Amino acid sequence: MTTVTREPRTAGGAAGRLAAILTARGIDPRADAPAPEPEPVTALKLADARIAPRYRLALADHPGVTAWVTAITRAGRPGPGGAPGIATGPSLLIAGPTGTGKTHQAYGAIRSLLAAGVRLRWEATTAADLYAAQRPRQGHDPERQLLALARCPLLLLDDLGAAKQSQWTEELTYRLVNHRYNHMLPTLVTTNLPVAELRDAVGDRVASRLAEMTERVILTGRDRRRHTAT
Ligand SMILES: Nc1ncnc2c1ncn2[C@@H]1O[C@H](COP(=O)(O)OP(=O)(O)OP(=O)(O)O)[C@@H](O)[C@H]1O
Ligand SMILES: [Mg+2]
Repeated sequence: MTTVTREPRTAGGAAGRLAAILTARGIDPRADAPAPEPEPVTALKLADARIAPRYRLALADHPGVTAWVTAITRAGRPGPGGAPGIATGPSLLIAGPTGTGKTHQAYGAIRSLLAAGVRLRWEATTAADLYAAQRPRQGHDPERQLLALARCPLLLLDDLGAAKQSQWTEELTYRLVNHRYNHMLPTLVTTNLPVAELRDAVGDRVASRLAEMTERVILTGRDRRRHTAT
């Protein structure tokens, strides 16, 4: 006598054949089907949700930026789960003309650190947004916001020197940079000013601290926004 097995009506292909084999062996293929595992939400995915769509898939591919990422990863202190946590370390200044990819490299660096398993809290702001957010308004505590940026383990300060400067912006930038300088907190700074002109734009005290605390990457080339790949 031959045993005839039937594939479950809803299944087909390889899954159907597997179900048929299990049924032939007296095993209900539906009984032991493991519930689909919820995909773990990784730190990188959480970070990507906070990154503007333009830079969400940014890759840090400049050798100077990848070297900085490696140095920061290696310097990380082991945390509770064994994963390295970000520690004190060098900062990185990414300079270059408009559209050469500074912001792309900076977000790419944050993404690379997270992809390497470094546990870190990070914040990002452009200098112009920082100054705008620091203007006094009701129900808002600018001091608290400045301290949050000054103290967070990794900060991206984008477009330094691009906004119109005043004594007030200079003082804010000084307080932010000085705190991070004193505590040796890794900071990614981008600017489209030539490094030699930073001092005029942000003041000598800020420029002097940046000179000591940052490694430099100078991006060159065309404005990527105006020249798409040919
Ligand atoms: N390595 C790269 N690979 C692919 N796209 C890139 C790369 N670098 C930059 N881009 C793209 O080129 C454009 C300009 O890059 P980005 O905004 O980073 O320039 P920027 O130097 O920060 O400019 P700005 O000085 O005006 O702030 C963006 O669309 C960005 O996504
Ligand atoms: Mg930019």
